[in-house]
Amino acid sequence: MNILLLGSGGREHALAWKIKQSNHCSKLFIAPGNPGTSSCGENVNIATADFDGIAEFCLENQVKLLVVGPEDPLVNGIYDYFTSNASYAHIIVVGPSAEAAKLEGSKAFAKAFMDRNGIPTASYREFTKDNYEEGIVYLKQHALPIVLKADGLAAGKGVVIAQSHEEALSTFEDMIQFTCFGAAGEKVVIEQFLTGIELSMFALTDGKEYVLLPEAKDYKRIGKGDTGPNTGGMGAVSPVPFANKTFMDKVIQQVVKPTIDGLSKEGLVYHGFVFFGLISVGGEPYVIEYNCRMGDPETEVVMPRLKTDIVDMFLAMAEGRLSEVHIDVDPRSAATLVLVSGGYPGVFEKGKSIKGIDTLLSSDSMIFYAGIGSSNGALLTTGGRVAAVTSYGASIKDAVDQSIKIIQNISFENMAFREDIGYEFLD
Ligand code: AMP
Ligand code: GLY
Repeated sequence: MNILLLGSGGREHALAWKIKQSNHCSKLFIAPGNPGTSSCGENVNIATADFDGIAEFCLENQVKLLVVGPEDPLVNGIYDYFTSNASYAHIIVVGPSAEAAKLEGSKAFAKAFMDRNGIPTASYREFTKDNYEEGIVYLKQHALPIVLKADGLAAGKGVVIAQSHEEALSTFEDMIQFTCFGAAGEKVVIEQFLTGIELSMFALTDGKEYVLLPEAKDYKRIGKGDTGPNTGGMGAVSPVPFANKTFMDKVIQQVVKPTIDGLSKEGLVYHGFVFFGLISVGGEPYVIEYNCRMGDPETEVVMPRLKTDIVDMFLAMAEGRLSEVHIDVDPRSAATLVLVSGGYPGVFEKGKSIKGIDTLLSSDSMIFYAGIGSSNGALLTTGGRVAAVTSYGASIKDAVDQSIKIIQNISFENMAFREDIGYEFLD
């Protein structure tokens, strides 16, 4: 079958790499893709927000499966756009309905969903302009640190962990009174700070049944030892050593099952990936956030470890057969290290010429392109996160070392990366 994948980051390059290996895949298109995805299929110059253009392309090219990489088109209703029009209703869309995508698109919606369904999460209150004064009183007596979350999508920048009451009050004012976070911050969720270690879990669901993919741990801070500002993700590892059977059983019983049952009970239409952003607090799982798509850079380690045909999984999802799917996982560890532009995650440089990225020196490694463009055959940086270098290894340490070896051959001006990805698990 012909397949269209939406998106243009490292996540989409990894998805394209995986989809291309399926026996079901005749032709893979990626819109808009990047110079890396063009080695897996044909890039098509259509924006992910252009639903009319995407639908027209699907009809013209007999596309039967539409895989949505990023959250924006999902939150903006691409699932509903396709399923509500008879001309496109035969196309399988991998992604939730707009209503269900609110699990990512609205922090307040997600928190209320967790409360209704008994899913462990930090305690919280929500505030808008209407109860702003009450919010100030609430903040002043809140234990430190205080977590403030802009309700809507804020490109990964909507969470502030305030270390003082002054910082919390000024962030609260910025969000609600000065709309510094745009419409996303008109509503603010204030929640209890949880202390623990984070990990990401992924399920593919049809809203009733589900399969779990390999888990991963993402490293969000820019600096060594998890210091400095948050980024989109500087690297990831899989498996996650502390996610042992005891912990995973708790995750399944206390988080995954109640979430899928909640979707079903509440009539939330969901045919796609659920990303559970979890934190283990003394061995007990809590949900930090839901996302309605795969993670980036987690996908760059999850896809390499997934041995099951992913298109088979999508077909099982569409046909209500997910409970029959067996997930086969590569026993090796995988680590990905993200190469970023100078200045990132602040204002960063672009247009730097990239050397050595198009020749891969080991079959144990993969280079997934992210913020890369091409001009007259030369590869140039176009984004903060430029590429993710993934390797397999007998251990996480081996996988990280192997990626570092590959990175020695890649260069662009002011390139940066974290060498200490997986540092807690290296012994
Ligand atoms: P997000 O942008 O929603 O991915 O959140 C960014 C990061 O903020 C998370 O990965 C956590 O590290 C942190 N965070 C969010 N909520 C909490 C919380 N309640 N307690 C502790 N850390 C949190
Ligand atoms: N790696 C975190 C995310 O994709 O949101």
